[in-house]
Amino acid sequence: MISAAVPAEVGLRFEVDGEIATVTLDRPDKRNAQTFATWSALARIGETLPEQVRVVVVRGEGPSFSAGIDLRMFTPEGVPGQGSFASAAALGDTEFEQRIAEAQKGFLWLRRPEIVSIAAVQGHAIGAGFQLALACDLRVVADDVKFCMKEPALGLVPDLTGTKPLTDIVGVPRAVEMCLTARTVGAAEAVRLGLAEIAVPVSELAQAVDDLAAALLSTDRAAAAATKRLLQAAPGRTLEEQAAAERAEQVARIRALVGGASAPN
Ligand code: ACO
Repeated sequence: MISAAVPAEVGLRFEVDGEIATVTLDRPDKRNAQTFATWSALARIGETLPEQVRVVVVRGEGPSFSAGIDLRMFTPEGVPGQGSFASAAALGDTEFEQRIAEAQKGFLWLRRPEIVSIAAVQGHAIGAGFQLALACDLRVVADDVKFCMKEPALGLVPDLTGTKPLTDIVGVPRAVEMCLTARTVGAAEAVRLGLAEIAVPVSELAQAVDDLAAALLSTDRAAAAATKRLLQAAPGRTLEEQAAAERAEQVARIRALVGGASAPN
């Protein structure tokens, strides 16, 4: 087991055990509220992820996965050393958007074809917490889960890459209804809408995630990455384009399987 160095004040743990990496939001006394430091640390983990890792589990310590952005950002004082919304608003547009882009980097790497990311979600997953769960490929939830896209209720938009996976999963009308009412989505509805793959009792969450990780690791590594590449690109392609992409991936796969035989000319 390797534990990478994330400064303690960030409230994030990172451990690697063979092919499985675990990112743990670890500020349970503040319901794993997230700051810019959280997102920078997440981005750094993505940049330095050991090559052997095939499954990344994102989980939260304590009763809630994450209560979203640290509400101190709304105060004039902000988060010590990280500023506030007021200080960010004083930046020029380009610099301000760059700051958001830096935060988004913490989320985007979780979709890489070479890995499968699993969010293990119990209790509240609000705002940035919901978006972090959405940034993962798969969601395993406890039966007490409470998803809520709270941003519009606070005068914001969801900007931590959550709007795309949300609409991909539930469709635009349901996403509009969910976000613009800022209502809570529980476990049964999450499973029904495809927001969660499975819901289990809280006490069984860790085991359910372990079982899923083990099942994901049972397939061939290169074939899994190639298949994920295909599946991810499918919604944006025509049937013919996708069929061509399948051919290209399969030619590479079969050549690799038979030992790299090159094509006859
Ligand atoms: N930012 C900073 N601190 C927080 C946050 C947060 N987002 N959420 C909870 N905390 C702190 C509380 O202030 C409290 O601290 P204290 O013990 O020092 O007083 C501690 O965490 C526990 O919070 P409680 O409210 O007592 O816990 P409870 O389990 O009853 O409720 C809940 C949890 C529902 C998540 C509630 O804390 C809450 O509504 N939090 C705010 C959610 C929110 O609006 N997030 C922003 C979404 S928008 C976005 O993420 C961009």
